[in-house]
Amino acid sequence: MSSGNYDDRGNKDASITNPKGRGELSARPGTGQVMETASAFLIGDSMTGGYGKGPDILHDCTIAVNPGEIAVIVGPNGAGKSTAMKAVFGMLDLRQGSVRLDGEDITALSPQDRVVRGMGFVPQTNNIFTSLTVEENLEMGAFIRRDDFRETMAQIYDLFPILKDKRNQAAGELSGGQRQQVAVGRALMTQPKVLMLDEPTAGVSPIVMDELFDRIIEVSRTGIPILMVEQNARQALEIADKGYVLVQGSNAYAGTGKELLADPEVRKSFLGG
Ligand SMILES: Nc1ncnc2c1ncn2[C@@H]1O[C@H](COP(=O)(O)OP(=O)(O)O)[C@@H](O)[C@H]1O
Ligand SMILES: [Mg+2]
Repeated sequence: MSSGNYDDRGNKDASITNPKGRGELSARPGTGQVMETASAFLIGDSMTGGYGKGPDILHDCTIAVNPGEIAVIVGPNGAGKSTAMKAVFGMLDLRQGSVRLDGEDITALSPQDRVVRGMGFVPQTNNIFTSLTVEENLEMGAFIRRDDFRETMAQIYDLFPILKDKRNQAAGELSGGQRQQVAVGRALMTQPKVLMLDEPTAGVSPIVMDELFDRIIEVSRTGIPILMVEQNARQALEIADKGYVLVQGSNAYAGTGKELLADPEVRKSFLGG
C-alpha cells in the first residue's frame, strides 16, 4: 500500500504538551504552540541517565504517547532512540525524570512489572526466539497470563495471516519482515495497554515496510497507543500523529508528523532535504 493511504492520519488536536512549557519541545514547528505531554497515557518525562556507571546518554529527554496515537521517534544513529525506549521500559536507571503509565508513576518498577502493568515492548535486536516455532514464540509472549490466551492468538493470526501458515516453523527460518511480525505478535500476546516498537521495519524492503506500517496502523486503530522508533523517518512521520526528533540524547524537535515533515530545518537535517 502506498503512503498516500496514510494522508488522513495526523493529530489535529493542538493539545499535546510540554510539562514545563520550555525549550525546543514546547515549540511546535511553524506554530509556536505548546506540545502538551504532562497528562499523556505513557510518558518518559525529562529523562536523564545512561548505562551503569557510564556517562549520561539521555539529557532531559521526553517522549510520550496517547490512546489512538502513533508517536514516532526519529534521529541520527547513536542519538539515544533505543536508550530512550529502554529507559521507558525500565532497563536503565534514570538519574532524573520519571516514567508514568496511565497516571501512575512506574519509574521504580522492573521491566517485568511494567509488562504486568500493560507495556508491550519489541526491542531493536534479539526480539524473537529463533530456535522456537512461531507458535511457541507467541506462547512465550503470554508468559504473564493465567487465563486462556487462544483468542488473542487467533487475533494475531488474523492480523498476520502468514504467521498462521508458518506457525510450526522455527522463527529463525522466516524472512526479516515475518520475524518482525512474530516479534510484534509476541508483544501483543500480553494484551498490552501500550505497544513500544524499536525499529520494526529494520532491514526490510520498502514494500514489506509499507505492509508492516499498515499492520501497525491496524493495531493502533484497536485503540492501543504505539510508541515507535524508526529509521525510515519520512515514511514513519507520514503515519505519525506525534513525532520526536532526538539528537545527542535530547529533544531537538517535536510536533505532529505533518508539522515535522513540513519543517525546513527538520527536512534539511534529518529527511534529506
Ligand atoms: N548497552 C550499552 N552500554 C553502554 N552504552 C550504550 C549501550 N547501548 C547503547 N549505548 C550508547 O548509547 C548511545 C546511544 O545509543 P542508542 O540508544 O543505541 O542510539 P540509537 O538507537 O539512536 O541509534 C551510543 O553512544 C551508544 O554507544
Ligand atoms: Mg537504536
